Amino acid sequence: MHIDLLNPESFANGHPHDQYDWLRENDPVHWHEEPEGTGFWALTRFEDVAKSGRDPKIFSSEPTIMITDPETGTALAFDGEHKMMLMMDPPDHTAFRKLIRSEFTLPSANLRAERIQALARQIVDAAIDKAERNGGEVDFVADVAGEMPSFVIAELMGLPLDDGRELYALTEAIHTAPEAQAPGAAAMAVMKMFEYGSKVMAEKRARPGDDLASRLLAAEVDGRRLDDMEFLLFFLLLIDAGGDTTRNLLSGGLLALMDNPDQLAWLKADLEGRLPSAREELLRYSSPVIYMRRTAKHDVELAGQQIRAGQKVVMYFGSANRDGARFDRPDALDLARPDNAQIAFGAGAHNCLGQHIARIEIDAMLREVLNRMTDFELAAPPEWLASNFISGPRTMPLKFKPA
Ligand code: HEM
Repeated sequence: MHIDLLNPESFANGHPHDQYDWLRENDPVHWHEEPEGTGFWALTRFEDVAKSGRDPKIFSSEPTIMITDPETGTALAFDGEHKMMLMMDPPDHTAFRKLIRSEFTLPSANLRAERIQALARQIVDAAIDKAERNGGEVDFVADVAGEMPSFVIAELMGLPLDDGRELYALTEAIHTAPEAQAPGAAAMAVMKMFEYGSKVMAEKRARPGDDLASRLLAAEVDGRRLDDMEFLLFFLLLIDAGGDTTRNLLSGGLLALMDNPDQLAWLKADLEGRLPSAREELLRYSSPVIYMRRTAKHDVELAGQQIRAGQKVVMYFGSANRDGARFDRPDALDLARPDNAQIAFGAGAHNCLGQHIARIEIDAMLREVLNRMTDFELAAPPEWLASNFISGPRTMPLKFKPA
């Protein structure tokens, strides 16, 4: 089996499940060469992925969670002074996460449910209008799925909804592989995000509102306010983390339902009652985040392989979520799957902070889409995101009828 988990081509039609299957079976802690780097260990079994996610003392999120080491001086780099919370270890990580944790608890997320449902309604209204003008067709990714996370993040941060849409386009450029776009496009997107974030910072300092951006600017860590760069990195993380992840779950999820009409019919027969288990199964089945990297702090043995201090260790969530040792008939979409403890949101101290909001967004959209749109039919094959980091369709021309 030819293994290549770096080339975005491997992910051009979704997760490379043939490679994952082979690795889990034959070489679950696999040494993967890296033409422009040191190489890394690829973890493909559920147990090893969960274990390394849960042990920051050995598996560090510093200097980065991307496979490629950051170039010092770039916005995503660990410059010794500033880094994103996502790329910190305890105790710094704990202190930074605490700053925004209360916004993301289940009760806080639930307070937003009604508003998120109203946004979902608005999005599907607009999609139905567009389809009427456009021969019954929309791009499900841009017109439906992508709208939700960009609106929600804009609301959270106290920004105009249309700006959320623009920021989300930048997120996609940040996550797209360099070889699949114009040179420097990702760095340019980060710069634009920072420019926008700086404007937000000035506006919210002058006129604080009841929003997360204003609260971040007023918050203290170790008895002091965040400096500008710390705020901007938080801003970038929040915009970036919830954007194409949620979008891809919704588009990839609908695609999976269209491929499994029996499952779609089962879900629609009792949408409210079956949404929670269906949503967890769609998360397991699509795994929008392909990987997160850790770096070994000490020598450690994992599943019989000797990992050396300083080596990169990469957790493949899409593979862990199809591990037959954990899930019965792992390749089947089974919306009724009992005890579906999927790992699409990661595990351990960094597990997805936005997961309760993400679940509310997913439920709200599935509710609107499945209640109000019907007879789905692809108008052209979906085009997948060219990325070895985030998985999902980037366009999905779809015909449907209003229900
Ligand atoms: C289906 C949607 C989503 C998926 C699959 C997803 C997945 C993930 C994963 C795998 C991590 C773990 C990172 C690690 O272990 O290093 C993570 C972290 C994070 N996610 Fe999500 N996410 C989603 C939606 C969201 C949303 C909607 C938000 C915010 C509104 C969000 C905010 C975050 C933040 C802030 C972190 C960093 C947590 C930390 O470093 O402590 N995510 N997410």
